[in-house]
Amino acid sequence: MPDIETIRKDFPILSQQVYDRPLIYLDNAATTQMPETVLRRLEEHYRKDNANVHRGIHILSERSTESYEKARDTVHGFLGGGAGSEVIFTSGTTDSINLAAFGLAHTLSPGDRVIVSVLEHHANLLPWQRLCAVSGAELLVLPCPDGEPDLTQYEQWLSEGRVRIVALTQVSNLTGTVFPLRKMSRPAREAGALFLADGAQGLRHETAPVEELGCDFYCFSGHKVLGPTGIGVLWGKKEALELLEPLRLGGGMVDVVQEQSYTAAGLPARLEAGTPNYSGAIALAAALEYLTSLNRKQVSDREDELLRYAEKQLSGIPGLHILGKPQERAGALSFTLDDVHPFDAASVVDKFGIALRSGTHCAQPALASFGVSAALRLSPAFYNTFEEIDEAVKAIVRTKEMFQKWTKKS
Ligand code: ALA
Repeated sequence: MPDIETIRKDFPILSQQVYDRPLIYLDNAATTQMPETVLRRLEEHYRKDNANVHRGIHILSERSTESYEKARDTVHGFLGGGAGSEVIFTSGTTDSINLAAFGLAHTLSPGDRVIVSVLEHHANLLPWQRLCAVSGAELLVLPCPDGEPDLTQYEQWLSEGRVRIVALTQVSNLTGTVFPLRKMSRPAREAGALFLADGAQGLRHETAPVEELGCDFYCFSGHKVLGPTGIGVLWGKKEALELLEPLRLGGGMVDVVQEQSYTAAGLPARLEAGTPNYSGAIALAAALEYLTSLNRKQVSDREDELLRYAEKQLSGIPGLHILGKPQERAGALSFTLDDVHPFDAASVVDKFGIALRSGTHCAQPALASFGVSAALRLSPAFYNTFEEIDEAVKAIVRTKEMFQKWTKKS
């Protein structure tokens, strides 16, 4: 991996001043920044090749289609999907999980069971809640005491039978807990369940081929891996994807349409109705190529180092409480401060030029499992520096002291 100054030059957004201070961007679990190469690819496509895909035989449409399908191959290669698997482009992880969940509705009967964990992002909880409500299946929410999944309870549920689907995050967007996917997917699949992993936070961390993780479905978003927003992926084993009833019907997903009926096209088109976000897919492929060129393992190791450093620095602050003590943490950590609401703290540290996320993190049951309703979150990416973490820690300490002073005065 090149040195950090060289890397940071690739990300123009990082070298700006906000409130007369250098920007310190530590909200990468929400959105990562795009390197020049991705911005250029997006612009180039719109300048030279822009046309709808699979819908014309003119030169621009041919070029656009070729780039779109090449992007699919790039994503497939990056994920390490095998020959019996396919990439479906979606608008993001939420869209991918909705597509999988509701596409499977016809396979569930009353009394069937679906397992998620309490640490799920709402995107990997609400679709399963609705699916269970409409099918009469039961939703089992795995406890994660101290941020670690309860594997004894998990195996117990699997042994009781009728578990049809297990849908788990790869890395929690709140605690950064790395779920032991290999360990959890094997018994799930042996019990006859389909296994879906929400890789939104996990893809920058885990470099192993997705096949090795034992998934039937794997979802992620472009904007968490240096790509643009509005593009995501549902990867699946072909036999699992074949089970999905398309959620959206319309152009591009059919073979023959008559006034009263239609026949659907094969994969992947069957699940990609309407004009796809082809420019997003092309830019996403450029982002994945960039990550590969840096060396994915080194990217992941650097992010782990930055997070460990942040955890060490923050845990020394009196009155600061980090959520969870998982065996392995990646990407993000969340915390609360005595006497300061996370929204107040985030808006003060923002004035120091530091971007943290605050609030519910789209994970209200996860927060509730720690007995809180909001938290602050710090999520570094490989382009951050240890000095930036130091500055963020200093700003958090100053913010805490300011609020303590005000609280005492009032
Ligand atoms: N899922 C994103 C986050 O956790 C938005 O911040």
